[in-house]
Amino acid sequence: MGDYKATPADKFTFGLWTVGWQGVDVFGGAVRPPMETAHAVGKLAELGAYGVTFHDNDVFEFDASESERLAKIDTFRKAVEANGLKVPMVTTNTFGHPVFKDGGFTSNDRRVRRFALAKIAKNIDLAAELGAETYVFWGGREGAESNFAKNVGDALDRFREGFNTLTAYVKEQGYNIRFAIEPKPNEPRGDILLPTIGHALAFIDTLDDSEMVGLNPETGHEEMAGLNFAAGIGQALWHKKLFHIDLNGQHGPRFDQDLRFGAGNLRGAFNLVDLLESSGYDGPRHFDFKPPRTEDEEGVWASAEGGIRNYLILKERAAAFRADPEVQAALQRSGLDQLAAPTLAEGESLATVRDEEFDIDAMASHGFAFEQLDQLAMEHLLGAR
Ligand code: GCO
Ligand code: MN
Ligand code: MN
Repeated sequence: MGDYKATPADKFTFGLWTVGWQGVDVFGGAVRPPMETAHAVGKLAELGAYGVTFHDNDVFEFDASESERLAKIDTFRKAVEANGLKVPMVTTNTFGHPVFKDGGFTSNDRRVRRFALAKIAKNIDLAAELGAETYVFWGGREGAESNFAKNVGDALDRFREGFNTLTAYVKEQGYNIRFAIEPKPNEPRGDILLPTIGHALAFIDTLDDSEMVGLNPETGHEEMAGLNFAAGIGQALWHKKLFHIDLNGQHGPRFDQDLRFGAGNLRGAFNLVDLLESSGYDGPRHFDFKPPRTEDEEGVWASAEGGIRNYLILKERAAAFRADPEVQAALQRSGLDQLAAPTLAEGESLATVRDEEFDIDAMASHGFAFEQLDQLAMEHLLGAR
């Protein structure tokens, strides 16, 4: 058993807005004081984080003057450098200010859409300056409460126009930045555009610079829609579109809980770590969680550390599961190696199978032994093997 302490090589990153969340929700105000960015950065470094991420307005206020903006960025940059952290991802707040109440990219008000593009472009310049390679788009306000309020086709045209404009800008500037769309089904809007991994993948295919745009899926967001997160990540990887990932915890379809990673659907978390660690994904393991409102600052850091520990514990369990000879035998008995083989062999065609003699009874009575395999996984997860 390890000590489950992180080092930068584990590539754990945190959003400034996660540990800095003051607990403001729909039913109540702040329960914790604001956290200085330099303090947050120092504590994250102590936890062994690799980097820190932010929305523009996590670092400086929406209405900051240019000199205030530069001063705040300077303080943040100095803290990041002093602690040897990276800033691998940056994003924009196009949801908090009242101007964005109907979205940024897809507001029915054309003036707002133009302002959103300008705000994003300005922060992309900052992202490039800080060496970020991923720029995330979470379209929290891009949606509607009433289907009559938004023509989905027109809204997607505007969404596409926004991405095409910004990828062209990044190319023109020569920035080494890729975009990652973060799907979410609802909250804060009744329905959000690009609600799941699948919707976003299909949308990305229509973009001018689709190779520059991928996904930043979040555990809880897929699970809010009743979907299997690890299976979605499996498809995102297959499309080579897993550019970034938001790890957290969620108890099934309900409001967005943003619990620490490993809380909520633990089996799903085990599946995810097993997949991620064997997939060749080498990007950040980014925690996007909200320490519950019940916690004081000590609880905030316990929650941040808990997510790290849960990831590392699950990584250890997944490695033990894969190394177990009984598991290897069970995987074979369940036919996973056969699934990896093409259905038609070299030189065969549909005509070959049309002429084949099938033993239907043998095939119909064949058991796949998935239960034995799954029980082995369960016992590894529970630490019983
Ligand atoms: C959520 C989202 C947001 C975004 C973040 C990046 O919980 O709905 O996770 O936290 O990830 O704002 O823009
Ligand atoms: Mn969330
Ligand atoms: Mn997120």
